[in-house]
Amino acid sequence: MPEGVAVVTGAGQGIGEACAKQLAAAGYKVSLFDINAQALSRTADAIRGAGGEAMTHVVDVSASPAVDAGIQATVVQWQSIDVIVNNAGIVVQKLMEHLTDGEWDKVVRTNLFGAFYMARAAIPYLRQSQQGGRIINISSLLSTVPRPLNGPYATSKAGMEGLTRALALELAGDHITVNAVAPGHIWTPLTEPMFTPAVQKEFERRIPLGFIGKAQAIADVVVFLASAQAAYITGQCIVTDGGYNINGNLPDVAFGENP
Ligand SMILES: NC(=O)c1ccc[n+]([C@@H]2O[C@H](COP(=O)([O-])OP(=O)(O)OC[C@H]3O[C@@H](n4cnc5c(N)ncnc54)[C@H](O)[C@@H]3O)[C@@H](O)[C@H]2O)c1
Repeated sequence: MPEGVAVVTGAGQGIGEACAKQLAAAGYKVSLFDINAQALSRTADAIRGAGGEAMTHVVDVSASPAVDAGIQATVVQWQSIDVIVNNAGIVVQKLMEHLTDGEWDKVVRTNLFGAFYMARAAIPYLRQSQQGGRIINISSLLSTVPRPLNGPYATSKAGMEGLTRALALELAGDHITVNAVAPGHIWTPLTEPMFTPAVQKEFERRIPLGFIGKAQAIADVVVFLASAQAAYITGQCIVTDGGYNINGNLPDVAFGENP
């Protein structure tokens, strides 16, 4: 069992909550960052109730002083950091020509700058990790397969994958691996309102494995990337989407087999 310290952002609900719980179950002490104090407490209570160790910090990842303070507070209490999971993310759904400067800024600042601020603050501690430091960025399928109305989101996640590769190269000599996970369509409080029965049915038709994923599926990949078994993987993005991104099938077209 690992005995390291993992920091998870956006740990109050959804994918971040699942990652925090799963890392705690794998033996990590988890430091939970979120802007929602109530949600943070719920996640931490559940982890402690299951026998794990958790601390909470109200941190807005889009503000570097808050990130620096959260990382410092974690190290003061637990002396080390082995894993960071940059999961906090937001969406603004608008055509790009209708976006305000503030809306664009907020999405890119949270999703992309937040991951940079976290990495910069944690690198000195990750470098000292006995097991080898880990940076895990939660990107999105939409970084490579965008839909309309998701301009700043798709842009920020594509940037996050660039950040993943650039950091991986810079930190390889320090035995720190840097990888991304790109979830496809996952049930969380963020997406639930979108999945009306009709929309759900259409996604199920389009996803080769035939179902919308659970947050647990992403947490499982995160725990793997954090583990010793993933020590030789760096600078990669693991798409976790039930096969959505490889699906060129046209279900309503009868192609027919060659004789
Ligand atoms: N759910 C999906 O289908 C899906 C698909 C692809 C990628 N993702 C990515 O996974 C991550 C988590 O998504 P989710 O569906 O669990 O979202 P969610 O909205 O359910 O949860 C996000 C959490 O992040 C917190 N948060 C928001 N802004 C923050 C900030 N500035 N600082 C700190 N915390 C902040 C929220 O309070 C919330 O607890 C996001 O980065 C998202 O882009 C999700």
